[in-house]
Amino acid sequence: MDNRKKTVKDYIRTIVDFPHEGIMFRDVTTLFADARGFRICIDQLLHPYAGERIDKVVGLEARGFIIGGAIAHQLSVGFVPIRKKGKLPGATLTQAYTLEYGEAVMEVHDDAIQPGEKVLVVDDLLATGGTCEAGIRLIERMGGDIVGCAFIIDLPDLGGRRKLEALGMDVHVLCE
Ligand code: PRP
Ligand code: ADE
Repeated sequence: MDNRKKTVKDYIRTIVDFPHEGIMFRDVTTLFADARGFRICIDQLLHPYAGERIDKVVGLEARGFIIGGAIAHQLSVGFVPIRKKGKLPGATLTQAYTLEYGEAVMEVHDDAIQPGEKVLVVDDLLATGGTCEAGIRLIERMGGDIVGCAFIIDLPDLGGRRKLEALGMDVHVLCE
């Protein structure tokens, strides 16, 4: 394929039966490893927010850190990680969320976002939306004002987009 015509989706690899049988794992490492692929991904994630005030970029562990760091650098704003429980060293706010089987907990440093700050949330993939919903609740508990939630991939059958839109979020995805 002509490299100049490749879309973001073309750079994403699918691994069958990872991490469990029956899962088609959408692997963005092949997108990140390609200089042009990574650049067009970051540019397209940012495109709808041109001219909007953004004070902080929040990335959801773990692949959201890679794109979140690049986006924050591009915007010359700060980056805030939302992590799985037990990884952050300072005082945290915690938020439980539902997984397909059982529960998990996300955390953020309780001083990472100031009331009224405009926040862009980013991650590689939107599935059920549970991870992002936990992130939204943490940001809103700190008084952050979420400008949008941007993802490289949406898995539409899992309903995450509907869930986030029902919370009043502006959702931006590059591919399904
Ligand atoms: C994946 C993905 C999102 C989340 C989406 O992360 O990167 O963060 O799942 O799923 P959801 O919309 O159903 O919540 P994963 O849980 O695999 O964690 P990792 O990035 O730390 O490997
Ligand atoms: N997280 C949840 N479902 C996934 C999938 N199919 N590929 C990559 N990450 C995921």
